[in-house]
Amino acid sequence: MVIYLPGTVEDTPQLDDLTPRQIVQELDKHVVGQAAAKRAVAIALRNRVRRQKLPPDLAQDVMPKNIIMIGSTGVGKTEIARRLARLANSPFLKVEASKFTEVGYVGRDVESIVRDLVDIGIDLVREEKIAEVEEKARQNAEERLLDLLLPTRREGESILPEDEAAFQRTREKLRQQLREGKLDNRIVEIEVKERGFPSGIEIITPQGIEEMDINLRDMLPGIFPGARTKLRKMSVGEAIEYLTQEEEQKLVDMDQVARLAIERVEETGIVFLDEIDKIAGRETSAGPDVSREGVQRDILPIIEGTTVNTRYGMVRTDHILFIAAGAFHVSKPSDLIPELQGRFPIRVNLDPLTKEDFKRILTEPRNSLIRQYVALLDTEGIALEITDDAIEAVADFAFTVNQNTENIGARRLHTVMEKVLDEVSFAAPDMEEKHFRVDAAYVRKVLADIVQDEDLSKYIL
Ligand SMILES: Nc1ncnc2c1ncn2[C@@H]1O[C@H](COP(=O)(O)OP(=O)(O)OP(=O)(O)O)[C@@H](O)[C@H]1O
Ligand SMILES: [Mg+2]
Repeated sequence: MVIYLPGTVEDTPQLDDLTPRQIVQELDKHVVGQAAAKRAVAIALRNRVRRQKLPPDLAQDVMPKNIIMIGSTGVGKTEIARRLARLANSPFLKVEASKFTEVGYVGRDVESIVRDLVDIGIDLVREEKIAEVEEKARQNAEERLLDLLLPTRREGESILPEDEAAFQRTREKLRQQLREGKLDNRIVEIEVKERGFPSGIEIITPQGIEEMDINLRDMLPGIFPGARTKLRKMSVGEAIEYLTQEEEQKLVDMDQVARLAIERVEETGIVFLDEIDKIAGRETSAGPDVSREGVQRDILPIIEGTTVNTRYGMVRTDHILFIAAGAFHVSKPSDLIPELQGRFPIRVNLDPLTKEDFKRILTEPRNSLIRQYVALLDTEGIALEITDDAIEAVADFAFTVNQNTENIGARRLHTVMEKVLDEVSFAAPDMEEKHFRVDAAYVRKVLADIVQDEDLSKYIL
């Protein structure tokens, strides 16, 4: 087990420090099976690290080793990518490649991928920085609140030393009460910043929404007044939260955050390009859609490595890792334009899930579906027990329904479990008996009729 001490953000193991073997081990905690895919993403990541270590002139010639995951719906493609990003603090963005072909999105600027990724990086780094200054911010907020509760004398007024001492004693007493929460309901008046940006107004320009907030305030000072303040009454409990947040904003150096975020994106960013199969194809179709080949050509520079201008600065995309995924039922990876194929040299197939996989998915992952339901019902004071043979039955039904209707992979487990626990989910707060047992017989009783009737299962499961 790794223990993180506060204030040692630098020590957080970066995803890039993990060996491929360690990455696979970590993924195993959340994703069942799919060994080949886990191995492939681990290799892709390691290749990025290797390329980063090369002298720049050589690195330039080594093509990025991105990855394509091929597998039908609900077998864990997104889950693997998501877990990978969470492993360490990589900025992670998931986009549907088909977004760029949709009517209304015609010509949607693919550079928005990088801008969005930077926004995510900013949030990530800002949160880390806020965690670092949290304590200091709380102290400052406390001092400000004490100033409010017990105003100091006006300037120039002469004070006797004993008055000063008494004043300090009172202040410390108040501090004690404040910390114990005894003042929480008292009302104070706090100077708050007015929201400068009227909510509910969205402005869409040819460049897209993302570009807009840069100059609006400068351009339209009348509509968006600057940081004006007003007095607001609130309880001490609320005030300490408000002031802490304000102090956090003050203590965090946003220029530094921006710099670090860009660095983080450039070196560890991951873009998950879903539904890549939908843009595979080389025909130039006429019509309202952007041609698929056109989209591939648009995306290419970002994957090859280019510089994108964002509102936080220039971002080089050379080392951003791209993980593409698709079912490839109709098209094949070889239908992608050659340049793009070259940028995705790692290919991996995900296996269809078996009954046995379903059983493991229900129980093994850290936050498996079963654990989730047990925890949810526990909030109602109900002890949910799901027997092994019930799990077996659920896996079995899910598998059968997938075969008979549409194969939606592990997502079927969600619909089946929801149906199995329908009764207890509804009645939980009113139940006298605080123990609820689900065994195979119960599962069959709830599901048998539905599963047998194919039409019915199409609607219900
Ligand atoms: N191998 C697996 N191990 C654990 N959970 C899984 C696995 N496969 C799928 N799941 C679960 O099923 C759900 C759907 O999986 P996921 O989003 O990864 O599907 P996908 O392969 O990306 O499908 P799509 O092509 O439709 O996007 C998630 O809740 C995920 O946790
Ligand atoms: Mg997916």
